[in-house]
Amino acid sequence: MFMFMVMLMWDVVARLDDELPPLVEAPPVVGESSHSTHRSIETLVVVLAVITIIGVIAGIFARLCGGRHFGGSGENDIEGWVERKCRSCIDGGVPAAPPPAESKPAAEEAKNVAPMMDWTDNHYRTLARLISKHAWLYTEMVVAETIVHQEENLDRFLAFSPEQHPIVLQIGGSNLENLAKAAALANAYCYDGINLNCGCPSGKVAGHGCFGVRLMLNPKFVGEAMSAIASNSDAPVSVKCRIGVDDHDSYNELCDFIYTVASKSPTRHFIIHARKALLNGISPAKNRKIPPLKYEYYFGLLRDFPDLQFTINGGITCTDEVNAARKEGAHGVMVGRAAYNNPWSTLGHVDTSVYGVASSGVSRRQVLEQFQVYGDSILGKYGPNKPNLRQMVKPLLNIFHSEPGNGLWKRKADAALRHCTTIESFLEETLEAIPDSVLDSTPAKGPSGREDAFANMHGLLPPPYKSREREVVSA
Ligand SMILES: Cc1cc2nc3c(=O)[nH]c(=O)nc-3n(C[C@H](O)[C@H](O)[C@H](O)COP(=O)(O)O)c2cc1C
Repeated sequence: MFMFMVMLMWDVVARLDDELPPLVEAPPVVGESSHSTHRSIETLVVVLAVITIIGVIAGIFARLCGGRHFGGSGENDIEGWVERKCRSCIDGGVPAAPPPAESKPAAEEAKNVAPMMDWTDNHYRTLARLISKHAWLYTEMVVAETIVHQEENLDRFLAFSPEQHPIVLQIGGSNLENLAKAAALANAYCYDGINLNCGCPSGKVAGHGCFGVRLMLNPKFVGEAMSAIASNSDAPVSVKCRIGVDDHDSYNELCDFIYTVASKSPTRHFIIHARKALLNGISPAKNRKIPPLKYEYYFGLLRDFPDLQFTINGGITCTDEVNAARKEGAHGVMVGRAAYNNPWSTLGHVDTSVYGVASSGVSRRQVLEQFQVYGDSILGKYGPNKPNLRQMVKPLLNIFHSEPGNGLWKRKADAALRHCTTIESFLEETLEAIPDSVLDSTPAKGPSGREDAFANMHGLLPPPYKSREREVVSA
């Protein structure tokens, strides 16, 4: 469409060139005053005619564009693109208010599998994509410095197979230059989004590393970082954060963070893990359990920032709960542990019940056959130790969660991993533990959850955000 319009413009300009008299007249000859007056009027008429024609062309062009996005998801909107790419020259560094609703990122990002270190690696994502064609997948966090210092070895950290789209790269870091460079290097891999980790409470990350959730304490920096990332990436950018850190846990502080980041950067999408982080040395696992979930903060953000997009995360375990959140207005839902610990039930029904498309009707036997082709080709390419069979098989181990034969399958898997060298032999040796009825069934609806899980949220919302705009802007 865009090419068509460009060609149309060239065509019109060429025809105007042919048909209109030259805009620059020859200089008037002295002593020919009446003739010169006549020529001046002629010139004026020509100039007015040209202005009118240009106005009409501009009008036609504007009607054709209609101020809408060419792509529908916002990335191809010319105005938005110019604003994003030229933000620093347009704004002169002064934060702009978050733009109107049209610039929301793609709504199809309704169901996401969370980034999880050591879990959502290439092998897990391959399995997840065999089960759901539509869920958005997130990589594990890749630290910006790793990308920058491994420039010669980037495939190891950034390559993925095209089937994994839609896929978002999560990066971590607190050095502007490295974040920008990492985004630029990752750009060649054509991720569908790039996300900054502002939620990890691990000591290595938020303590010694001074990034992850610690970044929430410096929203201005996050705004600058997101601006740097966005200007080095063609993919939409997003932030994944908690609802607070230690005693910085009021709703207003969360809103200040969102407001500042959205004002200082093109970030329009935030993934909210709806519990705060405690930086008192408790383990990351405890930090995903101990601080209580406060979904009301998430729904408050939906109310107070109607022009931004928010994905809810934390404690959501099944499709019923995904749909319950969407029913109450959630733009997107991110599921972490459940999608890893019980991939078949959590992801098997997503395409039909969240995305409304016909089920692929795939069975676990078929998924495993396809995974075997993938896995053995990798082992064949790089040898049995890199990655090793255990790493490749790890995401499969939960595929029969709660099914008859699961216990025996795990024991057999443990034994097989001691000597098998291919996924084919591993599956041959272990699958006899699983009844055919389980292997050949297509995804059932999965465990049912609280269909009204978020129904009472509107009565619990925090008071509306009192913008500290002036303080934030001048900070
Ligand atoms: C093993 C593990 C690793 C994780 N690694 C990351 C990570 O790299 N980046 C991130 O933003 N969150 C990470 N998380 C947090 C999850 O993305 C998610 O926010 C959290 O588990 C809450 O969602 P859930 O209740 O659906 O699991 C990790 C969680 C787990 C269990």
